Amino acid sequence: MRRTTLFIVLLLCTSLHAQKFEGLALTPPMGWNSWNKIGCEVNEGVIRAAADAMVASGMQAAGYRYIVIDDCWHGQRDGDGFIQADPVHFPSGMKALVDYVHARGLLFGIYSDAGWTTCAGRPGSRGYEYQDALQYSRWGVDYLKYDWCATGDLNAREAYTTMREALRKAGRPIVFSLCEWGSNQPWLWAKEVGHLWRTTGDIAVVFDGVVDHGGWNSWGVMQILDMQEGLRVHAGPDHWNDPDMMEVGNGMTEAEDRAHFSMWCMLAAPLMAGNDLSAMSPQTIEILTNREAIAVDQDSLGIQGLKYLAEDSLEVWFKPLTGGEWAACFLNRSRLPKKVLFDWKSHRIEDSFSGRAIDFSAGQWKIRDLWAHREIGTTRKPFSAEIPSHDVRMLRLQPARK
Ligand code: GLA
Repeated sequence: MRRTTLFIVLLLCTSLHAQKFEGLALTPPMGWNSWNKIGCEVNEGVIRAAADAMVASGMQAAGYRYIVIDDCWHGQRDGDGFIQADPVHFPSGMKALVDYVHARGLLFGIYSDAGWTTCAGRPGSRGYEYQDALQYSRWGVDYLKYDWCATGDLNAREAYTTMREALRKAGRPIVFSLCEWGSNQPWLWAKEVGHLWRTTGDIAVVFDGVVDHGGWNSWGVMQILDMQEGLRVHAGPDHWNDPDMMEVGNGMTEAEDRAHFSMWCMLAAPLMAGNDLSAMSPQTIEILTNREAIAVDQDSLGIQGLKYLAEDSLEVWFKPLTGGEWAACFLNRSRLPKKVLFDWKSHRIEDSFSGRAIDFSAGQWKIRDLWAHREIGTTRKPFSAEIPSHDVRMLRLQPARK
């Protein structure tokens, strides 16, 4: 009897909790976020320019959807407690800006924080979660990045769940992006709460290194890559590990940008550009709009890639794709060029997480180079290449007839 009562109470409790909006991120979200390049200097002009450039550059056609305004858009709360955009930098108001972005066929993302203030000291959502969610919903927001500064001893899981409930109550389907830097192992609990969660602290415009800000560090692309170790089993459609917004086009070399982008695609990472979209070099556009690399990221299986081999600054990654295909990526982390000779036939890749395996001695795969955009033979012959420093060769393997 007592057991039955307990069961009913539990059932009631569960049904009182709303689920996240399901199905909004079946593949990793793609878009642009203002923070990496613009920081606190946001205003309605730069956001409009980013939306225009996303369309004009071909990024929208390549799959990018979200224009996300990060920290520092906030003004004060009005007399009723509703947050307003800063009237100096957003004189037309947030609703007009959202409409502008929507009119271009794009989606709009906004930023807030679970604590009392944001990381840049603007009003946080603590105590105003339901009102903020309602306000975002009224403005037509489609995506919320929710940060973790000024949270004192709040419990992360509870605080993020509160915002999930608030979004649900407000009723507008909104992608929920958790940003607590991996501090509370969100991969273990956030699948039910949001659609993506940051796994690390902030990225820096550095390929390999750490930037000390006095009290906190930001991380190079390789450091962030290494911090993904062990996390792939927690990601999949509608719940992604987020290794942070990209630094492509922000000052690394072309090879480094290409390697960074390729690895984010191998990780099935959200692809959030973080550069100035209205002033991109042809090389930056080429990297960000490489549809063959993007197809690896956006593959509908949603399986995060695995590091198969790491030897003397050379890494070999594999990612299972739909249709029995695989992506492979050779990454040269060294400061020097590296010769690679990879005899496929002596390798067998077994992925216990996805249950997928590939035995190169048992068949043949056609190889396509995803940056050169051409077929380069089959796995019958060893792959032989010289990979420049901090660069990649990214390949797609397709089963060939025996
Ligand atoms: C934190 C986040 C960043 C950015 C800033 C804004 O550092 O991790 O991505 O949102 O706050 O202040």
